[in-house]
Amino acid sequence: MSLHNRRVLLVITGGIAAYKSLDLIRRLRERGASVRAILTDAATRFVTPLAVQTLSGNRVYSDIFSLTDESEMGHLRLARDADLVVVAPATADMLAKMAGGIADDLASTALLATDRPILVAPAMNHRMWLHDATHANMALLEARGVKRIGPNSGALAEGETGPGRMAEPLEIVAAIETLLSAGPLKGRRALVTSGPTHEAIDPVRFLANRSSGKQGHAIAAALAHAGAETVLVSGPTAEPDPVGVTVHRVESARDMMKACEAALPVEIAVCAAAVADWRVEAASHKLKKTGAPPALKLTENPDILRTLSHAGNRRPRLVVGFAAETENLIAGARKKLASKGCDWIVANDVSPGTGVFGGDANIVHIVDAAGVEDWPALSKREVAERLAARIAHFFAA
Ligand code: CTP
Repeated sequence: MSLHNRRVLLVITGGIAAYKSLDLIRRLRERGASVRAILTDAATRFVTPLAVQTLSGNRVYSDIFSLTDESEMGHLRLARDADLVVVAPATADMLAKMAGGIADDLASTALLATDRPILVAPAMNHRMWLHDATHANMALLEARGVKRIGPNSGALAEGETGPGRMAEPLEIVAAIETLLSAGPLKGRRALVTSGPTHEAIDPVRFLANRSSGKQGHAIAAALAHAGAETVLVSGPTAEPDPVGVTVHRVESARDMMKACEAALPVEIAVCAAAVADWRVEAASHKLKKTGAPPALKLTENPDILRTLSHAGNRRPRLVVGFAAETENLIAGARKKLASKGCDWIVANDVSPGTGVFGGDANIVHIVDAAGVEDWPALSKREVAERLAARIAHFFAA
C-alpha cells in the first residue's frame, strides 16, 4: 500500500534505537510519504541532524527557541501540518512527558500542540518498560487515543533480554499504513472474534482449548490495514494487540457474546474464535479431593456465529465463520454454512500433525453458496490478507 503524499512528523527521542529511525525514514520515503523530523537534544547524541536531514530531504527541527526554525515553520504549524505524528523511538521519559502534558522542548511541545493522531514506538530497558510508572503513563496515553506499536521482546542494548526493543522499521511502516489507510474497506466497521475461551470449573481451574488466536488476530490486523474500523473480541491469548484495532479481552463464551453484541452494528463479522461449546456449572469454592473425582456438569454455550447470523436488522452484511474439523472437512463446512446461517465458511483441518493449532501456517478452503475455493498453504498472515481482499471485493461488487 502506498503512502503517496502522506505527511509524517517523526519525533526521534534519545535512545539507542534511534539508529533504526534512519531506516524508518528511508522506508517511508520509498512509499511516497514526506517526512519532517524533530530531534530531542538527547536524540542528537545518537543520530546526527545531518543524517536525518539527508535521508528525509527536509530540514530537521530541534530547538524551540531557534528563531530560524520559528520563522521558517512555527512549532504549532509543524505539529499540525502532518497526517500522523510518530514518536520513534519513544523513551520512558518522553512517554512520561506526554502523559503529564509537559512541554519543555520542541518535541514535547509539538506533541502537546498537535491535534493529529499519534503513534508511539516505545524503546527502553525492560525494567523501565515494566515499571508501574511507565505502565500507567502508557495506559493513560492509550486511553486518550495514542496508538502504540511494540515494544518487542529480545536482546536489549545492555546485554539483557526482555520487552523493550523498538518495533522494527517495517513493522512501524505497516502500523503507519494501517493508521493512514485509504484502503478499500475505509468507512466500514468490522468485528472479529479470536482465541479460545476459558470456562471456569472453580475459582482456580478452567476448561480451554489449544487456539492461539494467531489467525483471528491476523484477520483483525488485515481488516484494519484495509481501512476498516475494526473491533477485536479476544479470549485469553499471548498475541499482542494489533495496531489500530479496538481490542476487548474476555474470558468466557458468554462474555465474548456480550462484547460482540455491544460492538454491533457492524457490516463485517468474522468469527475466528475457538469458542468453548460447553461451560461448566462452576463451583464458587475450590474443589477439594474427596476420594471420588467430581462430576462436571456441562451446559451448552451461546453460539456467537449463529446469533450474529440471525441478528435481524442488526445482522452484519457479511458474516464469516470458521470450521475447524479433523475429518470430512468440506462436508462439515457446508453443514455449518447452513446450520449457522453465515455467508462464508473458512474451513481448516486442525488434525494433530497439521500444526494448524498454535502454528503459523494454514491451509484453508472458502465455502460459500457458489462453491468451494481451495487456497494453497499460506502463512496465517497471508490467509488474513487474502480474506480481507476477498471481503473488500465483496463490498466493491
Ligand atoms: N462458534 C461461535 N460460538 C460458539 C461455537 C462456535 O461463534 N459457541 C463459531 C466459531 O467461531 C466458528 C464456527 O462457529 O466460526 C464453527 O466453530 P467449530 O468449533 O468448527 O464448530 P462448532 O459450532 O463448535 O461445532 P462442532 O464443534 O460440533 O464441530
